[in-house]
Amino acid sequence: MIDLAQLRSRLPGRRIEWFESTPSTMTEASRLLKEGTSAGTIIGAEEQTAGIGRHGHSWHSEAGAGLYVSLILDATRATSLPFVMLALGLGARQAIAEVGDLVPDLRWPNDVLLREKKCAGVLAQMEGSALIAGIGINVRHREFPEDIADIATSLYKCGATVTREDLLVELIRGVDEYMRLLENDGTEAIRNEFIRTSSYAYDRRVQVDLDSGTIEGITQGLDASGFLIVRDDAGVETTILAGGVRPVSREAFDTSNLPNDRLGISRS
Ligand code: BTN
Repeated sequence: MIDLAQLRSRLPGRRIEWFESTPSTMTEASRLLKEGTSAGTIIGAEEQTAGIGRHGHSWHSEAGAGLYVSLILDATRATSLPFVMLALGLGARQAIAEVGDLVPDLRWPNDVLLREKKCAGVLAQMEGSALIAGIGINVRHREFPEDIADIATSLYKCGATVTREDLLVELIRGVDEYMRLLENDGTEAIRNEFIRTSSYAYDRRVQVDLDSGTIEGITQGLDASGFLIVRDDAGVETTILAGGVRPVSREAFDTSNLPNDRLGISRS
């Protein structure tokens, strides 16, 4: 079990609710919100039996191995949901970088990657004037189920031994920092940060599953609303509002010119 006494002393003023096992912290957060809990509340679990991912996927939530949290945020700060999604990913990425001494990549809108595999995912749902951010970080998973073994990784598998307490404290700091950046400096600041830290912003050949079918093309940056632009081989540009973005193949992206730290390889 995570050290709640330590967390409460390191995160003063925060209500922290922690579950040994729950279907999903998103459901618990939604319930607590209806009961009147305020922004700043952190809901976490050792294990989720029905963890929710984006695009109808589930989130693998092995007991004690990951950080599975939902954060209640003040949605009056959330002027633009797409940029909030980017800000949350940037916050998670920064926490992993700081605590794990790693330099993770970001895949639009907010998958955190190490060595091209996903180590953290983010979702958000609006509930009245509040926003519930759900963040899952694979911390000390030693292996993954067969169906996701090729696409998932953990901090441990990438050489970082970290405590979930340190990671959560840094996650709260990172999310606060980027939400404040969005609030104070606006969407352009978040867009610039995303472009600076993500190899997916430009020049990546990707496939994207849309309701209308799958498209393939090269990423061309983000538009003013924070959506990803993909240009297909015929030169047609599509703005991706939502949809799973994946690399066409690892070989298609020439990593030879990138320094190790852009590839999620530990600096030490
Ligand atoms: C994604 O698909 O990338 C988003 C994954 C989000 C997973 C987290 S774990 C804590 C919170 N509770 C859930 O059921 N899902 C989110």
